[in-house]
Amino acid sequence: MHKYFITGLIILGFIFHAAEDVSYSETVIKFSHVVAPDTPKGQAVEMFARIVNQKLKGRVRVEVYPNSKLYRDREEIEALQINAVQMLAPSFAKFTEWVPEYQLLDFPYLANSYRQMHAILDGYVGQALFKKLESQGIKGLAYWDNGFKSISTNKKLIKAPRDMSGMRMRIQASKALDAQFKLAGAIPVPMAFSEVYKALQQGVVDGTENPISNLYTQRMHEVQKYLTISDHGYLGYAVIANRKFWDGLSPDIRKVLEDVLKEVTKWEREISDDLNKRDLESVKKYGKTQIYYLTQKEKDEWKRFFIPVHKQLENIVTKELLNAAYKAAAGVKR
Ligand code: LMR
Repeated sequence: MHKYFITGLIILGFIFHAAEDVSYSETVIKFSHVVAPDTPKGQAVEMFARIVNQKLKGRVRVEVYPNSKLYRDREEIEALQINAVQMLAPSFAKFTEWVPEYQLLDFPYLANSYRQMHAILDGYVGQALFKKLESQGIKGLAYWDNGFKSISTNKKLIKAPRDMSGMRMRIQASKALDAQFKLAGAIPVPMAFSEVYKALQQGVVDGTENPISNLYTQRMHEVQKYLTISDHGYLGYAVIANRKFWDGLSPDIRKVLEDVLKEVTKWEREISDDLNKRDLESVKKYGKTQIYYLTQKEKDEWKRFFIPVHKQLENIVTKELLNAAYKAAAGVKR
């Protein structure tokens, strides 16, 4: 009897110790990104971390690394692939090397509104692109907004595309954006987001494009004399995870993360346009940038001018995805 009692105690000790280990094996999710905290993406990542750290206290801890603090544009996806970070939300152009078809989402005038863009992202096109990420060890989880892009320059006010002729314009590394600016006679200069302010300040480039929230929070308005509210293209994000890490999570933890992501995605899409409008007001208040709003006639001319990019790049993004995007957008009133 005595022998069995001791054995039982030893087994109990192992079980308790193992349980203890499990309770202290908190899963850390490093979430890195390249924009300022007070932007649509920055705020959404903070909200995701806050809710997850509350709901899964002791089991999961999300650590946020904003503003290229941990990794810059290109490095961040490489870091995710080796699980040095577990989650990211890169803009679509950043996927060019891994899934070239993502460049479709940077096409000028692909959609005329957030709602049309959401129909593209949440439907067949967005899901097909997520599928293509999987062979790269990347799990697509959600799509977040930033907004429609404006053009800022230092040399002259841009009213017509050809006003950019000869200008060095910073772009994200995407053939769609390269083709877009070349059509206008500009010289596209691919560059990491974290380098843009300094390049504008030193005159390495003359101008760039981005939604206003990025222009303002990176202080580009301090070094750009002219701003044209063109809305010529949309900039958004794919929220992704290291696939092996994500699939390796316990189902109950993964379910909580998925539910929180759904809630945050809904909230992020409700605030993105307001944050861009808020930051445009701040640019106006700062008072150093001449702001020009394209007239509807000019917008129509810009659309006619830039739409050839679609044909030029249809083989890279595939006609199937391009036509699926047109169909999704057409199904939504503006
Ligand atoms: C960029 O211009 O690189 C930005 O779009 C980066 C971002 O994540 O918004």
